[in-house]
Amino acid sequence: MTDERGDGPDRDRRSDGRDFETREVHASARTDQYGALATPIYANSTYEYDAMDGPRGDHRYSRISGPTRGELEVAFADLESASHASAFASGMAAIDAVCSLLTAGDHVVVGESVYAETHELLTRVYADYGIETTVVDSTDPDAIADAMRPETAMVYAETPTNPTLRVVDLEATAAVVDAHEEDPLLVVDNTFASPYLQRPIEYGADLVVESLTKYVGGHSDLVAGAVATRDSDLAEEIAYYQYLRGGTPGPFASFLALRGIKTLSARMERHCRNATAIAALCDGHEAVERVYYPGLESHPNHAVAREQMADFGGMVSVEFSGGREAAAAFAADLDVFVLAESLGGVESLAEHPATMTHQDFSREQLERAGIPPGLVRLSVGTEARDDLLRDVEASLDRLME
Ligand SMILES: Cc1ncc(COP(=O)(O)O)c(C=O)c1O
Repeated sequence: MTDERGDGPDRDRRSDGRDFETREVHASARTDQYGALATPIYANSTYEYDAMDGPRGDHRYSRISGPTRGELEVAFADLESASHASAFASGMAAIDAVCSLLTAGDHVVVGESVYAETHELLTRVYADYGIETTVVDSTDPDAIADAMRPETAMVYAETPTNPTLRVVDLEATAAVVDAHEEDPLLVVDNTFASPYLQRPIEYGADLVVESLTKYVGGHSDLVAGAVATRDSDLAEEIAYYQYLRGGTPGPFASFLALRGIKTLSARMERHCRNATAIAALCDGHEAVERVYYPGLESHPNHAVAREQMADFGGMVSVEFSGGREAAAAFAADLDVFVLAESLGGVESLAEHPATMTHQDFSREQLERAGIPPGLVRLSVGTEARDDLLRDVEASLDRLME
């Protein structure tokens, strides 16, 4: 692990009983010579040695560690109730780091509606390395239990899922995984919830992966990822992978992610409030077949979401009765919502999973993941609620003309 090699920041600097909203604001340590409030962007590839037996400070080479990334790692670990975190150049690089813990002959159980690229990574790239994957309904702990084999080394879940917003019962899933003789790793992608709404490690996850590109960054201006854990052996393996493969974020992306952390709770509260209003508006509208939002009482996993999440999140998916054509017309008519992939930024976005984020899925894969052709996914931003409501309502009403 980097700190054991003398290269890392003080990863033991932990929260001191303060609430999340206070810890996120003070996420950066004011340790530079000027007492700068925000951690500076240390744009260095290398650091000076006083003598050959060691660098002057904590760092020697920026692929291995650096002050800006180090602060991000400490802050992210703290917010995820972890003890260690490693930052990566993207969410996928973080997911790949976790998958690199697998070896030939291992078996993975994965949720049917995980992010499309995660599915692809496991079933194509890691399949070629001799790792077998079984896809299950991850909201059903019995289905996970049934799919596990003696060689199952990992159970990988995402909650809420993308784009169908199903909610995995983390406590029940952790219990099923723990009961397995070989004690596989439970990995949870926490991208859709963010650590403000849910901290999977508190429910028994071994590793949390996250795309910091989304809610943590929060401004659609960076790509980064992270892995967090409470297990120092796992942390050491992930940090070793990070060191060798080198898929790390640069200081500017690390700075932006750290800056995003400081306003995470304030933004999430607004995302949740706006999304709740949009879901209620769409629910029951004539043009709409179904609304997918864990905050609706009609949502099949509403009770689980209420139990394990602080609020229901900023993502709403809407299925149109008129299928793909209606979905396209609705999205094209939106004005405040921008037609674009990604999520979690302050701007409201709309996207059509079947042709955009999940375009590599075959029709069969789309069906198995429960993604109908008439589904539009909304990342509800932080704009004024009434402007968003007016935008969606006008677009819905035009479908009825
Ligand atoms: C749930 C989830 N996990 C992981 C990723 C991958 O993150 P990145 O694009 O930062 O590599 C995404 C991207 O959309 C995602 O939605």
